[in-house]
Amino acid sequence: MRYRAAVITGASSGIGRSLAVRLAERGVASLVLVARRRELLEEVAREIRAHERRAYVECLDVADTERTVERLRALDRELGLDLVVANAGVGAAAGVDPLAWETLRGPLHVNLCGAAATLSAALPGMLERRRGHLVGIGSLSAFGALPGSAAYCTPKAGLSMLLDCMRLDLQGTGVDVTHVRLGFVRTEMVARSTHPLPQLLEPEQVADELSERLPAAPREIVLPRALGALTRAYGALPGRLRDLAARAVTGL
Ligand SMILES: NC(=O)c1ccc[n+]([C@@H]2O[C@H](COP(=O)([O-])OP(=O)(O)OC[C@H]3O[C@@H](n4cnc5c(N)ncnc54)[C@H](OP(=O)(O)O)[C@@H]3O)[C@@H](O)[C@H]2O)c1
Repeated sequence: MRYRAAVITGASSGIGRSLAVRLAERGVASLVLVARRRELLEEVAREIRAHERRAYVECLDVADTERTVERLRALDRELGLDLVVANAGVGAAAGVDPLAWETLRGPLHVNLCGAAATLSAALPGMLERRRGHLVGIGSLSAFGALPGSAAYCTPKAGLSMLLDCMRLDLQGTGVDVTHVRLGFVRTEMVARSTHPLPQLLEPEQVADELSERLPAAPREIVLPRALGALTRAYGALPGRLRDLAARAVTGL
């Protein structure tokens, strides 16, 4: 296993939780588990320790970006992190004004600012050691705007650009960057969704794929492939045609 010490934000449930456990099973020696719900993190930590790996519980709200950077830098000094997964995220609230600041605020602070703080925190240490891997958990929704979805699409599109910029700036430094673009996954985030969830994945499936493919540090992992190809094609449509397609498909 390429990694010795990893941090995963959003490790208390869903994809982050499954990925943390899977990485421990595959041999990562130390895992730092970040989220707000301590009891759930303790549960995940117990599961990881049962595999005779070290688990550190770090209760953090990643929207508090200064504290996030401070804590992750301290952990990097202690453990020498070689994998950082910015996974913590929130969905957009349902039944609210999609363009109100109150709707946009949470996802922007957590999914974009929190991810940027997470991804940049350990960089100085990684650059010094000339070794590291930054991973952002994004979404197929970043390929193209969807009606009523500004709060979710916007930060994921920002994350996509951040990862592209990081990859360019970090070439030749020994620090790799991977963008994970996901379709629908059966987690708390989509549990109350009233929309159709085509090609729904299980979090364990995502964790299996990621734990197998991340060590090769591809620039991008797209899951599921078929929905990924469709949304990428949708995003590449000329503007007016894309607007028509969005309305036709969503009925909004
Ligand atoms: N599920 C999908 O269909 C889907 C599709 C594409 C992309 N994704 C992305 O996958 C990632 C994981 O989501 P999931 O589907 O696994 O949903 P989830 O089960 O709801 O997990 C979200 C995780 O993020 C943590 N989190 C939320 N706000 C946080 C904050 N302010 N500070 C620290 N941690 C915070 C939550 O922990 P606490 O509540 O304990 O803080 C939880 O561990 C997200 O980035 C999401 O956008 C999901």
